[in-house]
Amino acid sequence: DQKIIVTGCASGIGAKTCELLKKEGATVIGVDRNPTTQFVDEFHHADLSDPVSIDALIEALPSGANGLLNIAGVPPTAGATLVLQVNLLALKRLTLGCVDKLADNAAIVNVASLAGVGWPEAIPSIKAASSLVDFDQVGAFCEEHNIDDARSYAFSKEALITWTMQNRWTWRDRGIRMNCVSPGPVETPILKDFIATLGKRVEEDMKVMDRPGTPDDIAPAIVFLASADSVWIRGTNLACDGGMFNHIQCAMN
Ligand code: NAI
Repeated sequence: DQKIIVTGCASGIGAKTCELLKKEGATVIGVDRNPTTQFVDEFHHADLSDPVSIDALIEALPSGANGLLNIAGVPPTAGATLVLQVNLLALKRLTLGCVDKLADNAAIVNVASLAGVGWPEAIPSIKAASSLVDFDQVGAFCEEHNIDDARSYAFSKEALITWTMQNRWTWRDRGIRMNCVSPGPVETPILKDFIATLGKRVEEDMKVMDRPGTPDDIAPAIVFLASADSVWIRGTNLACDGGMFNHIQCAMN
């Protein structure tokens, strides 16, 4: 019987992932700032923008989970500080704080984004961000590195993808794996916020793809990377975007 922790369980991709996990008979431990009872066996309220709340959550979560699915995230309309706090610093703090409590052979899955595709060009600022752990320092960091609201979202996901790659073997002795899933535009409550900040780029992406993704397109990939079926996949970033990653990367469009 699998016991899986899911952040962002109250909406969108997180809620769909919980639904699939329940169907497979898992015990789902949901985490969100918004309460929900749908598809979760145990709910933990937490505000992931607040390190005190994260540390209390780490204390409260049960031991022996087989998966930690970091799905919660905020769009660029939240502002650069909150975007980096929730999408990057909180995710790392929760993961590092929980890992000792996870079962051996557990899987960690981080939801990044197609927006993080440009990470190879951003390595200097990503390296600078790797030592950023103090939530109060995020505003100053963004100013120093010219990270405005629109840039912050992509940057948070670029840094997340590289952090996942770097830690491909960190917990190898315990069989614990970590991977990313990178969705393209997905129909959830925050899609309009991406369009509001990133404008035409997202709309054009959707035209190329014929349709936006739905949580049904993304959740199975997350569940797969959380399962023992993906045991040989470590530190990878799985694009789940209707082909947009290859469209952007490949000069032969
Ligand atoms: P959503 O808004 O439907 O779900 C996000 C969940 O995270 C919500 O339940 C929200 O309450 C929770 N959350 C946000 N901030 C929180 C905080 N401070 N503390 C606790 N919980 C918090 O959005 P969606 O689309 O399901 O997003 C899930 C993940 O997918 C995010 O990491 C997002 O960046 C990523 N993503 C979404 C895309 C899209 O087009 N919808 C595209 C690419 C990535």
